[in-house]
Amino acid sequence: MITRVIRVENTDSTKELLQEAGDIIKKGGLVAFPTETVYGLGGDALNSQSSRKIYEAKGRPSDNPLIVHIADLEHLAPIVKEIPENALKLAKAFWPGPLTMILPKSDLVPFETTGGLDTVAIRMPSHPVAKAFIEAAGGYVAAPSANLSGKPSPTTAKYVIQDMDGRIDMIIDGDGVDIGLESTIVDLTSKEPMILRPGYITEEMLTRVLGSVAVDQTILSDNSKVAPKAPGMKYRHYAPKGELTIVEGDADKVVAYINAETEKHRKKGEKTGVIGTSEVAALYKADSVKIAGSRENEELFARQLYTFLREFDDEDIAFMYAESYNTEGIGQAIMNRLLKAAGHKVVTV
Ligand code: TXA
Ligand code: MG
Repeated sequence: MITRVIRVENTDSTKELLQEAGDIIKKGGLVAFPTETVYGLGGDALNSQSSRKIYEAKGRPSDNPLIVHIADLEHLAPIVKEIPENALKLAKAFWPGPLTMILPKSDLVPFETTGGLDTVAIRMPSHPVAKAFIEAAGGYVAAPSANLSGKPSPTTAKYVIQDMDGRIDMIIDGDGVDIGLESTIVDLTSKEPMILRPGYITEEMLTRVLGSVAVDQTILSDNSKVAPKAPGMKYRHYAPKGELTIVEGDADKVVAYINAETEKHRKKGEKTGVIGTSEVAALYKADSVKIAGSRENEELFARQLYTFLREFDDEDIAFMYAESYNTEGIGQAIMNRLLKAAGHKVVTV
């Protein structure tokens, strides 16, 4: 299959192009598109055949449900059994934006899209290109992140092309994304709303709107013993090719430990990488040092994390080290992704 790549900088001058993209979805094809979180791999959410194609293109197990993307609140009612009060509150506060809600599905949504579940994940993205594309596609676009299964989610078109060229009909290149980590997922089907995946919309922000919110205990723990509630969270996602270790402790000890480790690897001829904050980055001696910005600016770190992991792959780095983060605010999402990328390998110094 030949994959067409189109560049869309703004939605006005490219209306016709986006309509072509929408028509591909309507005919059962697949199109990757930018959102404010990461790039998505879209197909018609109401067409079981399209969802099957998505799993195939990603090489993803088909028990891992997809998120249905909508562009208009009016499109919510037809795909769910009921709209609870909490869903309306969250939609008002955070849609369009990086929040996904789990609700009981209606018969309109095929089980292929929900991985066999009676519930459906729904998100209304804020990215203007995503919005225009979803509208052009008929209103319901099922989309996982546009990476091959097991790789970090793509935050630029370059990495979508690397993973998806030849596997899908079209890629919409809309530059880099804003947030860089996948949306926060909240389950509204249990008695108490529960965060299944942390993201830019934090526990604190959700608590302000809902009064209280539970957090799936597997988010920051090694989930090899307890199954996480979002099926996709059980996979060792976000994984770079090399081995990543998170190092926590006082800054000077962290630097000393990482430098000692990289020295050992250098002697064996193994390439090393570090993700460090600008406060101490100049002190690292690894082959590739990625500066994640100031420790104070966690949003900047979030935006770059997946790119760093992909770059380490491009550079054939065999052993990587990352500083640890606080788990408050967006730090919860950062540590969740770092821990997964590291397969929960954490060293305390
Ligand atoms: O930011 C995002 O959410 C991106 C962009 C493209 O919108 N999408 C994304 O999709 O991250 P994906 O497929 O990579 O992750 C979807 C996650 C998986 O962990 C999946 O198991 C979970 O959502 N999920 C989907 N439907 C669910 C359901 N009905 N119940 C529980 N978890 C569900
Ligand atoms: Mg994904």
